[in-house]
Amino acid sequence: MDFFQRQQQHLFAEQCQVADLARQYGTPLYVYSKATIERHYRAFADANKTAGLEHLICYAVKASSNLGILNLLARLGSGFDIVSGGELARVLKAGGDASKVVFSGVGKTSEEIRYALQAGIHCFNVESEAEIARIHAVAEAMQTKAPISLRVNPDVDAGTHPYISTGLKDNKFGVPISEALRIYQLAAQLPYLDIQGVDCHIGSQLTEIQPFLDALDRVLMLVDHLAEHGIVLSHIDVGGGLGVDYQGEQPPNPTEYVAALATKLQGRDIKVVYEPGRAIMANAGILVTEVEFLKTNEDKHFAIVDAAMNDLIRPALYQAWQEIIEVERNPHTSAQVYDVVGPVCETGDFLGKDRSLAIVAGDLLAVRSAGAYGFTMSSNYNSRPRAAEVMVDGAQSYVIRERETFDDLIKGEHCLP
Ligand code: LLP
Repeated sequence: MDFFQRQQQHLFAEQCQVADLARQYGTPLYVYSKATIERHYRAFADANKTAGLEHLICYAVKASSNLGILNLLARLGSGFDIVSGGELARVLKAGGDASKVVFSGVGKTSEEIRYALQAGIHCFNVESEAEIARIHAVAEAMQTKAPISLRVNPDVDAGTHPYISTGLKDNKFGVPISEALRIYQLAAQLPYLDIQGVDCHIGSQLTEIQPFLDALDRVLMLVDHLAEHGIVLSHIDVGGGLGVDYQGEQPPNPTEYVAALATKLQGRDIKVVYEPGRAIMANAGILVTEVEFLKTNEDKHFAIVDAAMNDLIRPALYQAWQEIIEVERNPHTSAQVYDVVGPVCETGDFLGKDRSLAIVAGDLLAVRSAGAYGFTMSSNYNSRPRAAEVMVDGAQSYVIRERETFDDLIKGEHCLP
């Protein structure tokens, strides 16, 4: 559930009228709802408390990494799942607790590993044997012990889009679960490593619970097998991946998801780490855009808006469907079926196709469910300054990222002498 609602013809973000926000801050504009973020985070936290699970929620920073959002989550007690030194810098700058950070990703550099060790992170989610050697070498040079988990690939079909499915054996993530024992035994012999746990992440936008349970079953078998060999783990990181409602999907909510996992974890003295990104942020944000022109080619109608694939790439990249609604409903405007497209010079530049909308030029549209993998995947393609980001809190709104300027676009560029 989120706090974007219509009252009469007006769309509200909490108690702020979205049209007012667009007037005040301009478009394209990302608008986030603080109450929604809090609600989603607490759903995970409370479900764990109810189930009596020792847990750590590590919000996946890649979903939306604005300092204002990270700071809000840090204040709620969240940890963070990072995939780069840049994300760690953001977490620390936002007041996040390094001891609640897990570091995922297949290509960590020595420099990033050093930075994370210096900061004192909770754990590295190691994705290969080569990475074990690299982390060990960096830890040795620093005369410290690196906390590690091995990311295993349980070979579960998450039934999601191929680009965002990560738990199958033919993709680049993790190590095959069948090889895990051997690799753990190897790691156990390395003096500058401290084996903490096991990690898996099978994909994103999962709308059913069964693949999570199948993966957990396989991981638990491994945990028991490792214990028989004297390797006792203190946590299981179940990754992220819980889906959201974009187009009527009915994914389990965090409460149901946690409760289902808890049934498998009963009686085990082991901490559970979660890495949710989308489930916390997607429906906590919208992208507001203004209609520049309406245009008809042959029998196709286009709404050309001021947001584009550089602002929100999910439709272009994954053919992702996100709801597009009028910010203000005008009963005197008649509806028409439009492709909602941006000004970028690519045929793939669309936000939505075949949408029935009652609009005229100058109206505002909101792309819903844009809070995760929206701004963070945005770019300056076509030399378009990136959008501003605003967080609403009740009747207040705060700029959490200023709109980029043309000077920002060319910062650091130089002509030859
Ligand atoms: N942990 C790891 C190791 C991950 O790779 C991911 C996402 C997450 C956690 C968070 O997953 P979530 O709870 O958000 O599903 N750009 C794509 C999604 C890519 C997800 C990548 N990994 C999209 O817009 O749909």
